[in-house]
Amino acid sequence: MSDLPTDGLRPFQAMEILKRAKALEAAGRSICHLELGEPGSPPAPRVLEAVRRALPDAQGYTNAKGLIGLREGLAGYYGDQHGVVVDPEAIVCTMGSSSGFILAFHAAFRPGARIAVTRPGYPAYINTLLGLGFAVTEIGLSAANGWHLSGADIAAAHAREPFEGLLFASPANPTGAAVDRAGLADIVATCARLGVTLISDEIYHGLDYRGPSVSALELTDQAIIINSFSKYYCMTGWRIGWMVLPERLVRRAEILQQNLFISAPTLSQIAATAALGERDYAEEQKAGYATNRLLLNQGLAALGFDVGRASDGAFYDYAGIAPFSNDAMGFCERLLDEAGVAATPGVDFDRVDGNGYVRFSYAGTAASIAQALERMEGWLKRR
Ligand SMILES: Cc1ncc(COP(=O)(O)O)c(C=O)c1O
Repeated sequence: MSDLPTDGLRPFQAMEILKRAKALEAAGRSICHLELGEPGSPPAPRVLEAVRRALPDAQGYTNAKGLIGLREGLAGYYGDQHGVVVDPEAIVCTMGSSSGFILAFHAAFRPGARIAVTRPGYPAYINTLLGLGFAVTEIGLSAANGWHLSGADIAAAHAREPFEGLLFASPANPTGAAVDRAGLADIVATCARLGVTLISDEIYHGLDYRGPSVSALELTDQAIIINSFSKYYCMTGWRIGWMVLPERLVRRAEILQQNLFISAPTLSQIAATAALGERDYAEEQKAGYATNRLLLNQGLAALGFDVGRASDGAFYDYAGIAPFSNDAMGFCERLLDEAGVAATPGVDFDRVDGNGYVRFSYAGTAASIAQALERMEGWLKRR
């Protein structure tokens, strides 16, 4: 009998693959990890120094919205990088972007409300929404369109089944697709016309390879912005992120934060404040991803995977596996067990067409990507 919940909640397959990969490693196998969107480098050295200095004293809760120094630093970031004025009082520091989603959903909507997400998309969107009692509309994207979402896609989906909110990421996971300013303006204007609240997941900002990341804040003060130190600043395990809220939602989000989480972890907030001053270090990491991006994309194409051009941003290649299999989970399990390469099945991101895709992450080292390609070459020949 299946042990899956009946409300559509599903395991996060990337984590399930990681669990299997760790078990193989514990048994002595060597595994190339291309399954997780996790930077291979630690945070900048000065971040760790700041935490070491603060450790003896930083033991208590902070203000529910977060340390004022961090929120002022974030407001400064929006001024410097995006040319927009943000009131530190409109910022709430969160436990990664993940807790930001919970605050955003409950601040802007009531359980039962319908929220649209893209398909493929980050799996936790659907799982979190369903787990919290919201309804989900999926807007299908296509490889032929570069996996880009447009205002026309939103309007067509809304005409079929109206929704109150749209949660959308650029650059996106798993495709890396990123919209430019005109594309984002189209999405923002469509949401405004339809009365849809936009939640803009900007967690991969800074990791655009084709131009500067454009924040929805540059175009509207009515969107909820979600961001995190996990990716650009290499701080996944610190569980620290932030959100910027429209004025009408700030107080409700603050009250929810007080009651649900009290505050984000104090030491992580101190680390994040230091990280904001370490963009040079983050750019060095990005240069590594930029090299990996081409290495992986060209390598996968040479092996016969169906990959378009290298992704616009983030650190993923969403590869078509039609030449090899129509069962992404089975493909990934065998790839892991037989070749020692961990990758994430497309069914994690797309419950309809995901069996035709596998997501490879290039957030790790060039050496591990090169080794994974070599192992896959031998394995594909042997199959
Ligand atoms: C699009 C997207 N949003 C949010 C997250 C969650 O990240 P965190 O909670 O570490 O900020 C991820 C993680 O991979 C992601 O890919």
